[in-house]
Amino acid sequence: MTTASAPGKIILFGEHAVVYGRPALAVPVKQVQATATVREDARGGVWVEAPNIGLSAPLADLALDQPLAAVIRSVFSALGVSRPPNCTVYVQSTIPVASGLGSGAAVSVAVIRALAVFLGRPLADEQVNALAFEAEKLHHGTPSGIDNTVVTYGRPVYFTQGRPIKTFRVGAPFTLAIGDTGVAAPTKEAVGAVRALWQAEPARWEKVFDQIGEIVWEARQAIERGDLAELGRRMDANHALLQSLTVSSPDLDRLVEAARGAGALGAKMSGGGRGGNMIALVAPPQAESVARALQAAGAARVILTTIP
Ligand code: PMV
Repeated sequence: MTTASAPGKIILFGEHAVVYGRPALAVPVKQVQATATVREDARGGVWVEAPNIGLSAPLADLALDQPLAAVIRSVFSALGVSRPPNCTVYVQSTIPVASGLGSGAAVSVAVIRALAVFLGRPLADEQVNALAFEAEKLHHGTPSGIDNTVVTYGRPVYFTQGRPIKTFRVGAPFTLAIGDTGVAAPTKEAVGAVRALWQAEPARWEKVFDQIGEIVWEARQAIERGDLAELGRRMDANHALLQSLTVSSPDLDRLVEAARGAGALGAKMSGGGRGGNMIALVAPPQAESVARALQAAGAARVILTTIP
């Protein structure tokens, strides 16, 4: 029997613009995770069990574009396994789906690692990342690759599509309150909406993407210097540009305002938007009161996480 886990993730800066070649910053969120276990199974064939989504079926019965089935088949194919051993791939996750916490990527990474080890052929991070990226295309349409990258490597990344991954120094630990609107929002739809805006007026939106790229760069420097006040201001500025891209929502804006009102240093939506999560930068003494303010403003769940 083999088991592997992968953390959730949250995008700090640069979502959406990252699809258009600008950089983005993301960090793992280790309070939530996906776990995959592969064990021999006398029933015969390969079984897929994922109680979270009510799935229990032989792999052979699952459609080619079922994300879990696709990722399992991709591992067999990458390893040249034409007759897989009888086994069950069991998946469990505490990461809320469609909320910007990287649940799809984490499930893929956990399954890829557990299955490769079960087959006696552990994969290097680079290979895990490449296979998880293929699976992300089923979740996202045209993913930038940031989710699978931060989840595979499990550390903060400064990510630009098509470039080698870079990690960055954290000058002083910082604490985030992650507030969930409770509204499931498929990333694919928000990404599609931004694409429609961009196709209609490319010059206008390229300018916005440039401004976001600038903010990402400044935010990275602020993190390296440990300048939390500046980091908070960059969050506010990034949120305003995401609002102009139409990917925020009244629920997200309400949580962002509530966090600021309770003393957060800055706040913004995170990920695809139109639902899902927002983040607020908090000084540790304010963390609990910001968390309470988010709950009072309707957050379905609040996670406090410190980036060491
Ligand atoms: O919704 P999330 O956190 O999975 O992130 C989506 C990030 C986007 O930039 C909107 C899309 C992408 O593929 O990078």
